[in-house]
Amino acid sequence: MNDKYVLAIDQGTTSSRAIVFDHKGTIVSVGQKEHEQIFPRAGWVEHDPKEIWANVRSVVADALSKAELNSGNIAAVGITNQRETTVVWDKNTGEPVYNAIVWQDTRTAKIVEELGGGDQNKYKDRVGLPLATYFCGPKVKWILDNVDGAREKAEAGDLVMGTMDTWVLWNMTGGTNGGIHVTDVTNASRTMLMDLKTLDWDEEIAKDMTIPMSMLPEIKSSAEVYGDGRPQGMLPGVPIAGILGDQQAATFGQACFEVGMAKNTYGTGNFMLINTGEEVVPSENGLLTTVCYKIGDKPAIYALEGSIAVTGSLVQWLRDNLKMFDSAPEVEQLAATVEDNGGAYFVPAFSGLFAPYWKADARGALVGLTRYVNRGHIARAVLEATAFQTREVLDAMEADSGVELAELKVDGGMTANETLMQFQADMLGVDVVRPVVAETTALGAAYAAGIAVGYWQGEQDVIDNWAEDKRWTPSMDEDERERLYRNWKKAVTRTFDWVD
Ligand code: G3P
Repeated sequence: MNDKYVLAIDQGTTSSRAIVFDHKGTIVSVGQKEHEQIFPRAGWVEHDPKEIWANVRSVVADALSKAELNSGNIAAVGITNQRETTVVWDKNTGEPVYNAIVWQDTRTAKIVEELGGGDQNKYKDRVGLPLATYFCGPKVKWILDNVDGAREKAEAGDLVMGTMDTWVLWNMTGGTNGGIHVTDVTNASRTMLMDLKTLDWDEEIAKDMTIPMSMLPEIKSSAEVYGDGRPQGMLPGVPIAGILGDQQAATFGQACFEVGMAKNTYGTGNFMLINTGEEVVPSENGLLTTVCYKIGDKPAIYALEGSIAVTGSLVQWLRDNLKMFDSAPEVEQLAATVEDNGGAYFVPAFSGLFAPYWKADARGALVGLTRYVNRGHIARAVLEATAFQTREVLDAMEADSGVELAELKVDGGMTANETLMQFQADMLGVDVVRPVVAETTALGAAYAAGIAVGYWQGEQDVIDNWAEDKRWTPSMDEDERERLYRNWKKAVTRTFDWVD
C-alpha cells in the first residue's frame, strides 16, 4: 500500500480543500480555494453550491497534481464538511433551487419560534438539539415556503435536500447520471430530523416542518464504501468511504476515542466536543447532544458539543468590514502592542448567541469603552472573546459530563496564534495542547475512509500517529482570571433581546 494515499475533501465555511495523506497521517499535498460569502440581508448568509462543486473539483485536481499523483494512487476518499449548511436541488437537472443557506444564517428565527410554540426544547429528547436557526430542517422549510414552485416540485418527488457532504458526494458519483443520495449519521444528527437513538429520520418532526420524506438522503455510517467516483463526477473508480461533519472529523483525527476525551477546533466558529461513548447524554447546560462517529457496523459513539458561532470570523470581520489590517494573522501583532484589553470586551453575537445561551435575538456588542481604548485593545478584546466563549462552553461541559478536563486538545487555524493560546490556557486553568498535524478535520475524514477500505486497521493507528507539537500552561493568577471572566459575563448580558 506504500504507493497509495488517502484523499480528504474538506468543504468548509470559507473554503474548500483537498488534502492528500500518507500512511503515517502526514500531509503530502494541499489544494485550497475560497468561495464567495453572500450576505443578501442582515442576518442572512448564503453560498453558491455550484461554485463550491467547481471549487471541490479544482482543489482535488490541484492536490493530486502537486503530489504528482493520479486517481490510481488513491486508496479511498473521505469527505468532511461545514455542517448544517443546506442545499435543495432538482435531482433531474442537478440545479439547486436556491443558494445554500449557511449554518450561521438567522432567517428562520420565526419558523423556529412557531415550531416550538414557546418550548425551545420541544424535540430535544429525540434529536439532542434545541430549536434554533442553526440546524437544517427549518432552512429546508424556508426554501419550500419561499421559492416559487419549490413545494410542488418537492411533493412530486423532484427535489432532494442535503448538507454539503451529500451535495459533494451526489456530484462525485455522477449527479443526474445516478448520483448517490446519502449522508452520514454525524451530519444527519445536525438536521433536527434524525432520532439519535434509532439513527433514522423522525417522520413526525419532518411532518411538523412540512418536509416530504422523499427529499431526505439515506443515512449511513461514517466509515463504509458509499460508492465509487464516476467519470461524469470525479476520481472514477476510487471508493468514497468516509463522511464526517467537520467537528466530528476533528474529534476523530484528534484520537478522542475514550469517554471524557475532548477537543476544541478554532475555525470560523469554535466547536468543542467531548466523547460520551455509546451513551446519549442529554445536556442540562446548553450543549448539544450529537453523534460523534460510527464506524461501519459498530455501535454509534456520541458526544456533547459546545458550538460557538463566531470566533475566527470575528477576525475576518475586523479585516474585511473595518479594514483594521490586511491579513488575519496580523491581529496578533496588533494585540501585542498593548498589555491587556484596556477594559474593552467584544461579544460577537453576529448570528445570535449559540452555546450555552441559544438566543437568536442577541446581537454583537463592544462594551467597556473609554477614550483610553485604541486599536490594539480592540484586537486584544477580539482574541479574548474566543477564549472567554470557550471557557463558557468548558464550564457547561464539565457540569453536564461530570468530567473535569485535565487538558484540552486544540486544532484549527487560530491555534497558530500564540497570544490567544496562552490566554486560552490562562482562562481555562488547564493545559492547552496542539498536535503536530493541526489539520485534524481533514485527517479525521481520511482516517474514516482509510479504515473502511483497510488502508488503516482501526482507531489504534490513529492513536499511534498522533503526536504533540506544543503545550501552553496557565500562568495567570486565579483572582485575575475570575475578574476578567466576571466582566465578560456582564458584557454578554448587554447583547440580549436586541431584535424586536
Ligand atoms: O457547525 C458548523 C461547523 O461545522 C462549521 O465549521 O470550520 O467550517 O467553521 P467551520
